[in-house]
Amino acid sequence: LTVYIPCDAAALSLGADRVADAFRREALAHGVSLEIKRTGSHGMFWLEPLVEIATPQGRVGFGPVRPEDVAGLFETGALAGGAHRLRLGPVADMVWMQQQQRLSFARCGVVDPLSLDDYAAHDGLKGLRRALQISPAEVVEEVRASGLRGRGGAGFPTGVKWKTVHDAQADRKYVICNADEGDSGTFADRMIFEGDPFMLIEGMAIGAYAVGASKGFIYLRSEYPHAAKTMARAMELAEQAGWIGDDAFGPGKHFHLEQRIGAGAYICGEETALIESLEGKRALVRAKPPIPALHGLFGRPTLVNNVLSFAAIPFILAEGGQAYADFGSGKSRGTLPVQLGGNVKRGGLIELAFGITLREIVEGFGGGTASGRPIRAIQIGGPLGAYITESQLDLQMDYEELAANGAMLGHGGIVVFDDTVDMARMARFALRFGADESCGKCTPCRIGATRGGELVERIVAGERIPQNIALLRDLCDVMTAGSLCAHGGLIPNPVLSALNRFPEDFSPVAHKTAA
Ligand code: NAI
Ligand code: SF4
Repeated sequence: LTVYIPCDAAALSLGADRVADAFRREALAHGVSLEIKRTGSHGMFWLEPLVEIATPQGRVGFGPVRPEDVAGLFETGALAGGAHRLRLGPVADMVWMQQQQRLSFARCGVVDPLSLDDYAAHDGLKGLRRALQISPAEVVEEVRASGLRGRGGAGFPTGVKWKTVHDAQADRKYVICNADEGDSGTFADRMIFEGDPFMLIEGMAIGAYAVGASKGFIYLRSEYPHAAKTMARAMELAEQAGWIGDDAFGPGKHFHLEQRIGAGAYICGEETALIESLEGKRALVRAKPPIPALHGLFGRPTLVNNVLSFAAIPFILAEGGQAYADFGSGKSRGTLPVQLGGNVKRGGLIELAFGITLREIVEGFGGGTASGRPIRAIQIGGPLGAYITESQLDLQMDYEELAANGAMLGHGGIVVFDDTVDMARMARFALRFGADESCGKCTPCRIGATRGGELVERIVAGERIPQNIALLRDLCDVMTAGSLCAHGGLIPNPVLSALNRFPEDFSPVAHKTAA
């Protein structure tokens, strides 16, 4: 009997290891020879731990499986094809999976994350092999043709960034993967580390070859211990296999990769603060220009990309930039790994071509609120993303449409709230979060977030007078216009969207939330 059990942190937190133990116990008791393969997660978190059984017809899913369900799986004949209440059928045939366009997440949940054989058997390394057969400039051109835009949040054209670093002259260049996934409601980077780490290494190796970098760093947040462990082992295996390390790109063309773990500061996700941290300094944001592409780590040209940007690269090189650009809408090409969470029935990871509406995501994939109450607000793009209303659910998920409607895509996190949410409290949360995570370098953010938090505290406490609201708006103007980086500049996003779209929660007669 071969059983696939996820070792993704979400599945582990729901008891995947205990389920694996239960399988071992029951197999022993029933005299069944058992092989357990650990995989990443398919991203259907409401079904985790989602266990798959190998059958002659393919892998059949069961979920959510609790340790106490395992004896029943053995005893009812479910493992041999019998009916069972937890039986999901082949995972690839499930509606949730069928309706996606999985390019970056095609292997996640399917392969053993630490098996090079599995990786190769599922199209792994095709991108790097092809890259090494063409010139670095041609690799950059493929990335440009793909239309890929930075998936960390800013949406800057990746091909332009790669060309800038490629064209820069220097004795040494670096590539950095920004894996400081700090946005609340996001987990796509973590899933790649835990479910398909070789893909990230492959994407970074292609990037290093393209821009002429000999050294790479993965900067991972400290809150992801499982991800760190899996990636560390994957890097060892990749080095043993020769696709990173000495002579990785040919004789004398080295590419050395290191993983560094942050210390828990959100601002280290800002690329210049990350670079300061990598240099061993306190993570204070640097003024831009100069941009890291020209003057980055240790003053050298540095390619800094998010995990999801690098994760798109192996497909782009393997299938060609145009194949990636064939997905998407308008200027938002390719796919976006959407992370759906908060008050939804079915939360998880969905990779979709740009252009789908929020309603299709939240109501279709998500199934509406878990509480069964009406949706009142949705926050897109992390804690500094704007709140939108239920009436805006027909907006398309793409960079331009969201920006035109006072929202931002960010790293693709969507958090749903029902009608019990108090938006004045959410505004207070944004300001407190902003103050806690400010690097402190500039006054609008350092002082503004703190004073703003105090002001909203008074509003929440009942001091809902027009002067307080006017002062809050003034403060947001100053933060937007005067902050040195996007952290301070974006804090007003959730605050003003709450104020403008849910004014009743700030009015003298407070919005009465349901019980
Ligand atoms: P930005 O617009 O300043 O820069 C975007 C990227 O393009 C940077 O890497 C920058 O160095 C590069 N760039 C800019 N001009 C360039 C040029 N001419 N040539 C080559 N490269 C160039 O945005 P920033 O401040 O880097 O990021 C802000 C975004 O980060 C926000 O929109 C937000 O969505 C996102 N964010 C993401 C988080 C996460 O957890 N992933 C957390 C917080 C914010
Ligand atoms: Fe630091 Fe905030 Fe200023 Fe950014 S906006 S440089 S986080 S103080």
